[in-house]
Amino acid sequence: MIVWHYDAPVGENMASGDGWPDLSDGREPRGIDVSIPSPARLYNYYLGGKDNFAADRVAAEAILAVMPEGRQVARENRAFLRRVVRHLAVETGIRQFVDLGTGLPTQGNVHEVAQEVDPDARVVYVDNDPIVQAHGEALLARNGNTTFVEADLRRPEAILSHPGLNGLIDFSRPVAVLFVSVLQFVPDDEEAAGLVRNFRNALAPGSHVVISTITGSGQDEEKVETITEAYRNSTAPAVLRTRPRIERLFGDLDLVAPGLVPAPEWHPDVNGETAGGTSWVLAGVGRV
Ligand SMILES: C[S@@+](CC[C@H](N)C(=O)[O-])C[C@H]1O[C@@H](n2cnc3c(N)ncnc32)[C@H](O)[C@@H]1O
Repeated sequence: MIVWHYDAPVGENMASGDGWPDLSDGREPRGIDVSIPSPARLYNYYLGGKDNFAADRVAAEAILAVMPEGRQVARENRAFLRRVVRHLAVETGIRQFVDLGTGLPTQGNVHEVAQEVDPDARVVYVDNDPIVQAHGEALLARNGNTTFVEADLRRPEAILSHPGLNGLIDFSRPVAVLFVSVLQFVPDDEEAAGLVRNFRNALAPGSHVVISTITGSGQDEEKVETITEAYRNSTAPAVLRTRPRIERLFGDLDLVAPGLVPAPEWHPDVNGETAGGTSWVLAGVGRV
């Protein structure tokens, strides 16, 4: 029996399989507030997962009411994540990945994609949501080439000096740092660009920085406002940046082809996995 520390009413929240990770080692995960939506659980809901609570579902449904394509947008972003990891592993030979803002485990996690190419590929997951840590550790416990670091990406020095990360990642060799659908939770442009620069400065030549983030460019204003408002009431307020603001996040990095494009257009799969799509998420890869 897992004991979580929380004050929210139980009832529906404690329904079987409702958000609670199956930890069998007797640890007591630190508490989470299930009464406030979290980005990780909202995203999990869009993707059809069960690791969410009533507050998450209410907020998610408010967004989906004005933006019915919301689930598709999440799937497109996730498909981009799978493609970019595979692309970097196959086409550039990268064997080390740092996944900042991992999210709750779902199908096609970074280590699964990378280790399908090379079982020795190393992956460090980083997220600041305790529920992600609990689920992530349960999933990754048996894989020696992956680890999970619970940390806030706004503290890059703490991440870069973390023994868990340094035990797996050799920064003298190429690394891919993934900011996939996470920089929208760092609303200040200077801060977000500074974080990218911090990680980029630690990387050897041949490394890559991956950014995907939701954009307000070309979108309906009511939808943008509804999304912004819903996340304002979550554990991490979000910003929908315009294309030029997203471009600036890459700093002096050269973008590899095809540049900054809607996620479904970044090396679309020949097998048709991502045929067609929306332009809510812009994605690009910079080479160090
Ligand atoms: C929308 S999910 C994206 C998950 C995954 N990267 C993907 O694209 O499929 C955003 C994730 O970023 C995490 N996150 C948000 N702000 C963060 C921060 N400051 N530090 C670390 N993780 C953060 C959230 O907890 C959540 O798991």
